[in-house]
Amino acid sequence: MQISVLKERAEGEGRVAATPETVKKFIGLGAEVAIEAGAGANASITDEAYREAGATIGSAADVAKGADIVLGVQAPDPALLQGGNPGAWVAATFDPFRNGELVEAYAKAGLEALSMEFMPRITRAQSMDVLSSQSNLAGYKAVIASADEYGRAFPMMMTAAGTVQAARVFVMGVGVAGLQAIATAKRLGAQVSATDVRSATKEQIQSLGAKPIFVEEVEGIEGEGSGGYATEMSEEYQKAQAELVSGHIAKQDIVITTALIPGKPAPRLISDAQIATMKEGSVIYDLAVAHGGNVEGSQPDQTVVKHGVKIIGYANTPGHLAADASALFARNLFNFLSAFWDEEAGRPVLDEEIGDAVRLTQGGAVVNERLRGGEE
Ligand code: NAI
Repeated sequence: MQISVLKERAEGEGRVAATPETVKKFIGLGAEVAIEAGAGANASITDEAYREAGATIGSAADVAKGADIVLGVQAPDPALLQGGNPGAWVAATFDPFRNGELVEAYAKAGLEALSMEFMPRITRAQSMDVLSSQSNLAGYKAVIASADEYGRAFPMMMTAAGTVQAARVFVMGVGVAGLQAIATAKRLGAQVSATDVRSATKEQIQSLGAKPIFVEEVEGIEGEGSGGYATEMSEEYQKAQAELVSGHIAKQDIVITTALIPGKPAPRLISDAQIATMKEGSVIYDLAVAHGGNVEGSQPDQTVVKHGVKIIGYANTPGHLAADASALFARNLFNFLSAFWDEEAGRPVLDEEIGDAVRLTQGGAVVNERLRGGEE
């Protein structure tokens, strides 16, 4: 049973899907692990460290040869995997709703694509959930990157030369990334407020010492769909939210937006007109920039200045913390595959609940219900 890990080839992707720690653990289960030379370089992991953990190091072709399971952060081009065993698994992120062609190519290549984004949100799969592990780091980094662009300090400081006011930080979307953004901004001494469409988040915001900003007058909307994810909101709600947010945003120094709706483009939360009401020198960080953006005018990997406000958003925020992001991602993959390890078969055998959820392609066809159902 050979597990193979290629170097990530997407631009700006510094992460890697295995670490020496997970290599050692896979070998402990009886697998062999092959890693492409230089795969960990951007995550501060040397080939030597992988070798010491028991992996063999080789070229992409060497590593793909004989692969039974390929691990990736972003799914590799199937052309790179030609030497793999028939029906080899590829466990990685596929961004399946937006990458239909890639999914088709996996089917055609006879590979079994396992999409880590489709991990069900059930308790036993929490430790396998790459969206959570990566969002948590992204929420932290969004605050740090914003603080860096902000020409003022976060905490209130009373000095002999006068008082520096605390920064006002507003977090829009309080999922995993938003909660971490709130906690990080609080730790830096900012005055923090936050909003979400899911009413369950109100208490979470308060428990972190931040102020909840919520639409109260539109009744009967919980905003929560299956698996704790948000649903698209009614027009009435969206209008009330826009009004509430407009008044609040004008008084903020930093706004971090994190709102996503699975299978849909990111909801637009901030318009150009709202940006124009913000103070000169304010900063907006759009964590949803790669999914269409929550903020009008935001551009992946660019800092755009509109009405004196800096709008930033890395296309791949977790990739800017590649070492920690890789460590957590790699553990998610190990937790996933080891949970299903079948000693007799010497490899993982997935159960129906999780297997059917994450499997995109099998036996030459696209088999995933969410994709065939055309969620987007
Ligand atoms: P996400 O990344 O899908 O979305 C981010 C946040 O944006 C969510 O809180 C969502 O409600 C919010 N949002 C969407 N549209 C919005 C709008 N128009 N205005 C304001 N906010 C909007 O969410 P994430 O981080 O994946 O978490 C969603 C929930 O799932 C959380 O409650 C989390 O605790 C839960 N969860 C459960 C897991 C498990 O049980 N295995 C694993 C991970 C998360």
